[in-house]
Amino acid sequence: MTTPTIRQAPAAPGDLPLLGHTLSLLRRDRVGYLTSLQPAGDLVRLRIGTRPFLVLNSPELVRRVMVEEGKNFDRGRIFQKARPYVGDGLFTAEGSEHLRQRRMVQPAFHKGQIERSVRIMNDVVRDQVASWRPGSTVAMDREMHVLASEIIGQTMFRAPEAREVVDLARDELPALLAGLGQRTLLPDFLARVPTGVSRRFDAACDNLRAAADRLVAAYRDNHGDLHDFVSLLRSARDARTGTTMSDTEIRDQIMTLLIAGIETPATLMSWAMYELASNPGLRQRLEAEVDEVFGGRDLTPADLPALTLTDAFVQENTRLHHPLWILMRRAVNPLTLGGVRVEPGDEVLYSPAAMQRNPSIFADPLRFDPDRWLGDAPTQRMQQAFLPFGLGNRQCVGDAFAWVQMKVTVARVVAGRRLVVPAGYRPKTVVSSIVHLDRLPLTVHSRPRAAAVGGPDHTEGHES
Ligand code: HEM
Repeated sequence: MTTPTIRQAPAAPGDLPLLGHTLSLLRRDRVGYLTSLQPAGDLVRLRIGTRPFLVLNSPELVRRVMVEEGKNFDRGRIFQKARPYVGDGLFTAEGSEHLRQRRMVQPAFHKGQIERSVRIMNDVVRDQVASWRPGSTVAMDREMHVLASEIIGQTMFRAPEAREVVDLARDELPALLAGLGQRTLLPDFLARVPTGVSRRFDAACDNLRAAADRLVAAYRDNHGDLHDFVSLLRSARDARTGTTMSDTEIRDQIMTLLIAGIETPATLMSWAMYELASNPGLRQRLEAEVDEVFGGRDLTPADLPALTLTDAFVQENTRLHHPLWILMRRAVNPLTLGGVRVEPGDEVLYSPAAMQRNPSIFADPLRFDPDRWLGDAPTQRMQQAFLPFGLGNRQCVGDAFAWVQMKVTVARVVAGRRLVVPAGYRPKTVVSSIVHLDRLPLTVHSRPRAAAVGGPDHTEGHES
């Protein structure tokens, strides 16, 4: 018997002529749709337009593609399509060029660099939290975007000229990501339709690229070594090839960092604020932990390991609200995957967000429950299926940075304020290249008897 090809793999329901499953994949609850495919098997075939894709529904198959067979796959068509817009940085580069870039960028994310960033993160969040007036209602989605962009800005770019590009990234990223999703995912005949989204996308890319070019020129003309991300790239020489980075390459890495490093943490931190506001019992336990660990002083890297409940809270938040609904790979060599023959050019996809909601792996998957990560509670299968930063040679270069940033943010907010969900509010998600939380208004209260730095007001707190 011959091995079935990808076209002969079991099809997901709802295959339409010409469009395939494109409409199901574009509906608002895409994660729900991808989760609904899990009972159909570890491998299911979808079509986007007329192109077939294999959906990987098990953590074992994801590991095979990303790690064991990693050299047999590249990022694929979507990233190829993104390259003219977002540049040829770490996110879109392939093969030996990707490895060269990775070796040069990685040192910016070493442990020592991240530890040095903790103080900046602490200060940025502390000041932002202190600006939330008790009794007021704060647009928390916006606040978390400001926080994420400030943290990237202050930890990675020390030149004063960076302010322009960081502010621009904060403001233009939603338009950029919405357009990027359409340009790369839709069949070409639909992606080229000149809509408002498409025009805003082109303008956002042009503006960001021009501002990043100006920043590279400012470093070249006005600054020596500022001991930051751009200085590191300017002086980096790849040990294996002896090559350095051109101004254009540095510009592309700056764009990559801004595109990859703001929106995802901002989204997860917004959800974290929502969960803090929605779970008063949990918030009290977190308050007890942060008071005990760093009380009324600033947070240091040495405090982080003791914040175990905060860590479990961040982990559960990252599990339940993962913003990446789809990741793709394209085969460059033939192989067999789960009994299906995959030929060069065939594409596979998996959804971190859906995998982390798989009910056969996570009991009661839609319930927010940080305790599932504490002590002996997590099973081996849960740990295998929790892949928020991907796997293998394309694993997120900012994973440790993002984790520390989310932990510091949650700890500092808990230390300084109490948040309450306004009556009648229901969270709503919006999908662009990522799934994010739409408007999040939260009411802010002081913490009674809070000994916290950055929130020393003495107004009476209100219990939620
Ligand atoms: C919680 C927030 C974040 C999440 C959930 C996340 C998730 C991911 C995932 C899943 C990948 C792998 C994509 C793939 O396999 O195709 C990735 C790659 C990447 N991420 Fe993150 N990320 C986050 C934050 C950050 C931050 C803060 C930065 C930078 C400061 C960053 C920079 C990157 C870059 C440059 C890549 C491409 C790496 C490569 O291909 O070598 N990310 N991210």
